[in-house]
Amino acid sequence: MNCRHVASARALVALILTIAFTVSGCSKSQPTSQTATQQSASQQSAAPWWKHAVFYELYPRSFADSDNNGLGDINGITSKLDYLKQLGVDAIWITPCYPSPQVDFGYDVSDYENIDPQYGTLADFDRLVSEGQKRGIRIIMDFVMNHTSDRHPWFIDSKSSKTAARRDWYMWREGKGPQQPPNNWISTFGGSAWKWDPTTSQFYYHYFYAEQPDLNWRNPAVKQAMFDTTRFWYKRGVAGFRLDAVDTLYEDPQLKDNPIKPGRNKYGDPIDERINNTKLPEVHDTLRELRGVADEYNAVLIGETWTDNIDELKTYYGGHGNELHMPMDFMFTEVNKLSPSEFRRQINAIQSSGGWPVFVLSNHDIRRSYERYGDGIHNDQIAKLMAALYLTLRGTPIMYYGEELGMQNNDPKRREDVKDPIGKLGWPKDKGRDGERTPMQWNNTANAGFSTAKPWLPVTPTYRTHNVTDEDKDPDSILNFYRRVLALRHQHPALLDGDYTGLNEEDPNVLAYLRRAQGKNLIVVLNMSAKPQSIHLNVAQQNIASSSPLKPLITTGHGVNTQTMSGPLNLEPFGVFIAEVSQ
Ligand code: GLC
Repeated sequence: MNCRHVASARALVALILTIAFTVSGCSKSQPTSQTATQQSASQQSAAPWWKHAVFYELYPRSFADSDNNGLGDINGITSKLDYLKQLGVDAIWITPCYPSPQVDFGYDVSDYENIDPQYGTLADFDRLVSEGQKRGIRIIMDFVMNHTSDRHPWFIDSKSSKTAARRDWYMWREGKGPQQPPNNWISTFGGSAWKWDPTTSQFYYHYFYAEQPDLNWRNPAVKQAMFDTTRFWYKRGVAGFRLDAVDTLYEDPQLKDNPIKPGRNKYGDPIDERINNTKLPEVHDTLRELRGVADEYNAVLIGETWTDNIDELKTYYGGHGNELHMPMDFMFTEVNKLSPSEFRRQINAIQSSGGWPVFVLSNHDIRRSYERYGDGIHNDQIAKLMAALYLTLRGTPIMYYGEELGMQNNDPKRREDVKDPIGKLGWPKDKGRDGERTPMQWNNTANAGFSTAKPWLPVTPTYRTHNVTDEDKDPDSILNFYRRVLALRHQHPALLDGDYTGLNEEDPNVLAYLRRAQGKNLIVVLNMSAKPQSIHLNVAQQNIASSSPLKPLITTGHGVNTQTMSGPLNLEPFGVFIAEVSQ
C-alpha cells in the first residue's frame, strides 16, 4: 500500500469507529441532572458521553472515612460528590469494593454481587449511584475477571474434590512429578504460578497471588456467571466497568513452558517471557462478547491494557470498534521524563491509531506523577504542566485521586510497615504500592482530615500544604489550576471534539499543539524545561495568519505576552500557555 492508501484506510477505520462509538453512546442510564457546562457540551455534539467525560479513579480504602475507623468507605465517597462535581469530574471508577479477604486489597473478590461490609452495604452503594445521578456523576465499577479470591465459594467448592461441581471453573493440573509444578510459569507476584493443594494432590494456577486462583474462561459456565455479574451491576445503575488485567484471561491449553530470559527479576525469580499465558487471541473473543452485554445497557468498558506498542493497543478496540471503548494507553505512563519529543511520539502514535485515546498519568499501581515528573524545585509548577498536557489532549483523561492536589507518594520506611504483599517480598528493591495509595488529603488537621482514627496507611507529610481546604483558598494552587483546565475542557468545542495537530515539532523544550473544531482554534504551549523559553509558533500550514489575535485562557507566570500569533511567546520555566486563536 502507498501512503495515500494507508491514509484513506485509516480514515475509513476512523469513520467506522466513530459510527460504532456514536451508536453505542446514547446512554439509558443518563444522569438526571448535569451541570450547565456539561449540558451545553452534550447538546452541541453527537459524541457519546464517555468521550466528553472526565473520569476519576478512587481507591475506596483511602478516599474518605465516614465512620472514622481508619478505612475509607462508600458513604465517605457519597459525602464528597459535591467536591468531585465542583472539580469537574463526570464519572468515578471505584477500585474493587466487593467482599474480599483483602490480600490484594479488593482484587481478590469473594462475592461479586455485594459490597464489603468494611465499605458499607448495597443500600449505601445504591445511594451513591442515585446521589451521583443527581449531580451528573456516573459510577464505574472494577471487574476482576481473571481470578477470584481463594475464599470465593466457587473456589472452595472447586478445591473440595476432583468431582466437585465447580472443579473445572479453575485450572487444576497434575504436577510434572512430586513437588514439580506442571510448567515453568512464574507468578507476576513472585514464585511459581502453580500451587500444590493437598486435598486433591493437584496444582492450581494463579497468575497473581496464590490467594487469587485463575478462573477457567474456557468453561462456558464461568463466562455465563461472570457476564451475569456485570448485568447485576448494570441493573443497579452502574455505567460501566474498568476491566482488570484483561490480557491474562487465557492460557495455552497445552501449558507449554515459557522461554526464560537471562537474569532474575526483583523477587529473585527467573524472568519468563509470558507468551503462553498472556495476550492469547481468545481474550478478544471474550471482550467482544462482554461488549455485547455492555451494549445491552449502553455501558462503557475501560481496559487495563498493558501493551508494548500501538498496534497491540489497537487490537483492544476491536476490528469494528466492537471490543473496548476505552483501552488505557499505559505507554503514556512510561515516558517519565519531561521530553517534548518523547511525548510527541506517544501522542502522535495514539492519535493515528483510529481509536479514541485514553490518557492516564498514574494509578493505584503506578507511582504518583508528582514525583515521577517533579524536579524537586518546581514540583507544583510541573504538576500544573502535566495537568495542562493530559487534560487538553484529544481523548478521555482518567485522573487518580489526589493528583489534583499534587499528592506525593509516601513509601514505607521499614519492611514491617509494608501492607502490600509484593512490597514485603520485593523489599527493598520493590517497596510495593502502598506509597501511591495513601489517604486523600482533605485538610491540614490530624490524619489530613481523612479520619479521626489512625488511617490504614500513614498520610503523606505534605498534607500540611497540599490539601483540599488550603488549596481551595489559594487561587494559584494546583487544585484551582485543575478546576480551571477542567472547566475549559467542558466548555470549549476545540477541547471536546477538536482534532489535534502538533506545532513546532522540532522544538526540544516546548511541546505545542493546536486543537480545532467548529471554527474554533485553541493552542496549548507547554514549556517542559527549567529555563524560560521564547518561541514563534509556526502555523503557516494551518491556515492561520500570523496576525491572528490571541486570547489567553489559562496561563502560568506573570510576564507580559504576545497579543498575536506572530509572537514571540514567552514562557516561564515549566510555563503553560493556553489561548484561543481568532482568525
Ligand atoms: C491489576 C490491578 C492490581 C492488582 C492486579 C491483580 O493489575 O490494577 O492492583 O493487584 O490486577 O488483580
